[in-house]
Amino acid sequence: MDNIVAVKPIPIRRSESGFAPGDRIGERLTVVDRIAEGNRTAVYAVWDNEQWAAFACKVLRPPYDQERHAIESLVREGELLASMSHPNIVRLFDISYTTDPAYLLMEQLEGPDLRTLLDQRGRLSVQQATSLVAEVAGALAHLHQLGYLHLDIKPRNIMMQHGGARLIDLGIARLVGRRTGEGPGSGTTPYMAPEQVTSDHPLTPATDVFALGVLLFELLTGARPFPRPLAPRAADAILSQRFPQLALRADRLKDVRPRVPAALDTLVADCLEVDPRDRPATMAEVLASLRQFVAPPSVKATAKPRLVPTPLRAEPLPALLA
Ligand SMILES: Nc1ncnc2c1ncn2[C@@H]1O[C@H](COP(=O)(O)OP(=O)(O)O)[C@@H](O)[C@H]1O
Ligand SMILES: [Mg+2]
Repeated sequence: MDNIVAVKPIPIRRSESGFAPGDRIGERLTVVDRIAEGNRTAVYAVWDNEQWAAFACKVLRPPYDQERHAIESLVREGELLASMSHPNIVRLFDISYTTDPAYLLMEQLEGPDLRTLLDQRGRLSVQQATSLVAEVAGALAHLHQLGYLHLDIKPRNIMMQHGGARLIDLGIARLVGRRTGEGPGSGTTPYMAPEQVTSDHPLTPATDVFALGVLLFELLTGARPFPRPLAPRAADAILSQRFPQLALRADRLKDVRPRVPAALDTLVADCLEVDPRDRPATMAEVLASLRQFVAPPSVKATAKPRLVPTPLRAEPLPALLA
């Protein structure tokens, strides 16, 4: 990753508040609108003047846009996304680290994200929640097969596209087996499994399984399964079973939403086990369980066969006539 500092960046003027519509990013992109802004990054709707198409562009916000570690981590996210090919993972089109700022160019998703959807609807139907979460589980199974964990599964990091789900934000994805590396706090606490909260335990696919369980519970009820976020010391004590009385227990899905199928209640409870060894070990296993609740796409009764005009042939087909 030495080439990041070796190449002289193209200087661009921008204000502290980031880019405004009409500003240029690099030589090709014109900012159309600001989509979202986080602590470290901003995402813009942009027009690519070379490809003549609209994209979403993720950049680091000042002062992170000048920090080598932050740039490396954005590039790492891009490289990981570039190695993915899954219908439920956002598509990446370009990584630019010779521009200032460095950026990722992605397909622009229509949204909303699942946080916004949940805030609008309160909760989702069993059919909708399980089919969206099954799509996310499929995306995660793909990521896990490549040896990576997402580690930031939450409603904001899943966006709607054509009625389905797209997983975004691989910003803190790590190789399976690593510890959190950046210490406690990388990730989003209410969705983090105890082993991710402590940073002292190896992370496995079961760490993403836990977050997926919190997500599924939340989509089905509008509430979270644990009354309060887990502190690192408590997580450590729970995992080492030094203080069994601290054992953390999730609320049961069926107590909050009584008429869900019993098997769905069990699946959610299994995903939310505090000891990672008690959870389903693979995302493929979770996906297989979820599929039983997802109805196959129905054929619309109103859909009529479309009459497609047969193209007129100017000449007879000699091969057929011969
Ligand atoms: N490809 C995209 N299309 C449309 N909006 C996006 C896209 N990627 C990200 N966003 C929006 O930008 C927000 C931040 O992007 P994200 O990758 O999650 O960055 P961060 O690491 O700052 O959380 C998302 O929550 C979403 O609202
Ligand atoms: Mg995010």
